[in-house]
Amino acid sequence: MRIAVYPGSFDPITNGHLDIIERAAGVFDEVIVGVLNNKKKQPMFSVAERVNMINLTTAHLKNVRTASFDGLLVDFAKQNDAGVIIKGLRTVNDFEYEFQMALLNKTLSSECETMFMMTNSKYSYISSSMVKELAEYKGNLEGIVPYQIIQYIKDKYELQRL
Ligand code: PNS
Repeated sequence: MRIAVYPGSFDPITNGHLDIIERAAGVFDEVIVGVLNNKKKQPMFSVAERVNMINLTTAHLKNVRTASFDGLLVDFAKQNDAGVIIKGLRTVNDFEYEFQMALLNKTLSSECETMFMMTNSKYSYISSSMVKELAEYKGNLEGIVPYQIIQYIKDKYELQRL
């Protein structure tokens, strides 16, 4: 059984992330979306909210599940019997950091392979930080985040404005 983890902050999940998840689900027997519970970063959405949003948007993918993790990614992969880490690349700007991370993770765990998938060109400009800025200024999120979570995001920002 080929298991892959697809890690990230997913604050929140975007159409670019979903596209990678769907394509990875076609290649691997199981894909585990790993939501980082990063205590150093102050995310907009709680881990539970981020996991919930991913579950809402990946319900149609039967071999995908979501879990949160803290600590090292290679340990999370090992705990889940995943031999592959999936990363999406949008632009050359992503490359340098991802290259470093892949080499570091390979040093930490030689049996874990990092595999890169190029983003769908339709989504190469999308980032979670851009989504948050759009939501803050009440911009249109259609086509940028999965439709199932648009209202979820709007509600979160409405509550914040109160
Ligand atoms: O969506 P992001 O924030 O770019 O995802 C970054 C992520 C979660 C993939 C990365 O920060 C990570 O792997 N964090 C876990 C800690 C870890 O293993 N770091 C590498 C060794 S120091």
